Amino acid sequence: MDDDPIIATNDDASECKRSAVQLGYWQDNYIHLLVKQTQRKAPEINRGYYARVKGVEILVHKFLKRAGPKAQIVNLGCGFDTLFWRLKDDGVQVNKFVEIDFPTVTAKKCYLIKRNKQLLEKVYEKDGEVKLSATDLHAGTYHLLGADLRHVNELEVKLQQAEINFMYPTLFLSECVLVYMESDGVNCLLSWLSSNFQSAFFICYEMCNINDTFGDVMLGNLKARGCALSGVNACRNLEAQQSRFISNNWAGSKAWDMVKVYYALPSAERQRIEKIEFLDEQELLVQLFQHYCICISWIGSEFSDIDFNGS
Ligand SMILES: C[S@@+](CC[C@H](N)C(=O)[O-])C[C@H]1O[C@@H](n2cnc3c(N)ncnc32)[C@H](O)[C@@H]1O
Repeated sequence: MDDDPIIATNDDASECKRSAVQLGYWQDNYIHLLVKQTQRKAPEINRGYYARVKGVEILVHKFLKRAGPKAQIVNLGCGFDTLFWRLKDDGVQVNKFVEIDFPTVTAKKCYLIKRNKQLLEKVYEKDGEVKLSATDLHAGTYHLLGADLRHVNELEVKLQQAEINFMYPTLFLSECVLVYMESDGVNCLLSWLSSNFQSAFFICYEMCNINDTFGDVMLGNLKARGCALSGVNACRNLEAQQSRFISNNWAGSKAWDMVKVYYALPSAERQRIEKIEFLDEQELLVQLFQHYCICISWIGSEFSDIDFNGS
C-alpha cells in the first residue's frame, strides 16, 4: 500500500502549526526552521491547533512533574513536532526523548536538524557525541528514528538502539497517528507497550464522534487525498478510544472531546487568543472541537489521577 498520502499529513500538520504560531497563538521558536513559509489558515483551524498543542502540553508537564528525572518521552509518528526543543527552552530535562516516524519523514527531519544551528545546538550535549545516518540521529538524550509503527519488532530494535529503559516512567505521545493504522496493528503496538513497560502514560490526540454528517465530510476530505483511514473504527466515540487501550491491558483510560479540553485551558490564555482573530461562525469551531479528542491511558497507578483539573 502507498504510504505517501499518510506521510504527507505531516506537511499539513506542520503548516497549520506554523500558521498559528506566526499569528501568536503560542510560542514556538523552531517550527519555522522545519516548515517553509505557509499560507494563513482559517481562524477555526488556528484555534483548533491551539487547543490541541496546549491541551497536550498541559498533560505532558503534569506527567513530567510526577515522573521526575527518570522520565522518558516517546513521540510516535512525531512528524516535525518541536516538543523536544520547546521543553529545552522551558528548562525541562528528561532522561530520554525518542521520536519515531516513517524513515522518509525522519530523513527530512535529520537533514533539517543537521542544517540548522538552532536545532542542532539543543540536541548536542556537553562532551556528548552525535551519531547520524540518513534516517536516524542519536545524541545523548535525543533520538530520532525511522521505523514503521505497524511492525512492533522494528520499533523494539529502535527503542533498544536508543537505550530506552523499560523500567523507567515513559510517556507515549501520538497526535493524529493511530487513525492511519489498521486496528490489528494498533492492538499489537498497544499490547506490546503494556507488556514491556512497567510505568507508562499515553497521550493520544485523535478524531472522535465521526458517525455524523460532519464526520462524513472530515473523513471524505482525508480519503479524497488518498489517505486510508484504517483505524477509524476507534474514532466512533470517546468510549471506543478508551476501550482499545483497556482491551490491550492498559490499567485505565480517560478521554475528553476538545470542547471540554478548550474550556479546561487557563481562562486568561483563552481570552488572549480569542482576540487574535475574529470568528465569523462559532458553530463551525464547536463542531470541529466535538470531532477531536484527547485520550489518556496509563500502566501502573502513578499517573492514574492526571487530568485537566488543578495544577
Ligand atoms: C498528521 S501527522 C502528525 C505529526 C505530528 N504527530 C504532529 O502532530 O505534528 C501523522 C504522522 O504520523 C506518521 N505515521 C503514520 N503512520 C505511521 C506508521 N505506521 N509508522 C510511523 N509513522 C507513521 C506520519 O508519517 C506523519 O508524520
